[in-house]
Amino acid sequence: MSKKQPIGIFDSGVGGTSIWKEIHQLLPYEHTIYLADSINAPYGEKPKEEIVRLSFKNTKKLLEMGAKIIVVACNTATTNAIQQLRSSFTVPIIGIEPAIKPAATKSRAKVIGILATKGTLSSELFARTSDLYSKNTKVIEVIGNGLVPAIENGQKDSEKMDRLLRDLLQPMLQEGIDYLVLGCSHYPYLIPNLKRLLPDSVTIIDSGEAVARQTQAVLGSQDLLCDQPNKAPEFFTNGNPQVLKNLINASEQTFNVTYLDF
Ligand code: DGL
Repeated sequence: MSKKQPIGIFDSGVGGTSIWKEIHQLLPYEHTIYLADSINAPYGEKPKEEIVRLSFKNTKKLLEMGAKIIVVACNTATTNAIQQLRSSFTVPIIGIEPAIKPAATKSRAKVIGILATKGTLSSELFARTSDLYSKNTKVIEVIGNGLVPAIENGQKDSEKMDRLLRDLLQPMLQEGIDYLVLGCSHYPYLIPNLKRLLPDSVTIIDSGEAVARQTQAVLGSQDLLCDQPNKAPEFFTNGNPQVLKNLINASEQTFNVTYLDF
């Protein structure tokens, strides 16, 4: 394994680019390869076995492309498949899980909201973490129905999106949450919408920065951190490249976004 090999990142679609941004910001010398499995989004509605199968497909593709580490930039894939991935592959595998711990620890109201997919909220891994922190904190779980498909269709700034969000937030606001955990890597793209729709008393938390720090720590511990400028990031999608381009920002034109059938 060499330091110059890429960090391989995958998600069910374009949402994991929110995690890629954190990784790229923290580790700008690293060559990153991102796979968006948009044709199969949303994963959150699929049975566990199918999520595991797709996670293996994406991991194998990234390893074929030379990845030295895999970042599962998808809460649904992490909570359903990370154990099998870790026991089947020898490269380090980093996952993302809803940030219940910091929200529950910091909440004064002792009521927090978690917005995530059905696949994440119904997973055993999530249930275990949630049980740990729900002893003295009320955890209001809401499935973000419709959010991932709307983002995948490039509709994050639409009236439809705000309507969906208003309905999803209502039960949480009724219970008086003071923290909202974004338990899906697509949702950080909705932070501007959420800030408009939530009272100032609610703090929004996501896990992107923690995943980037963990990636740095694991690469560092194996002496695999790239210490000199490397190749530009590469993005591959089996969906619409324009949606992905818009999310990673038109100003970053040097980044390659390519259609790939995988
Ligand atoms: N970005 C994925 C996650 O973090 C979305 C899952 C989906 O495709 O439903 O859970």
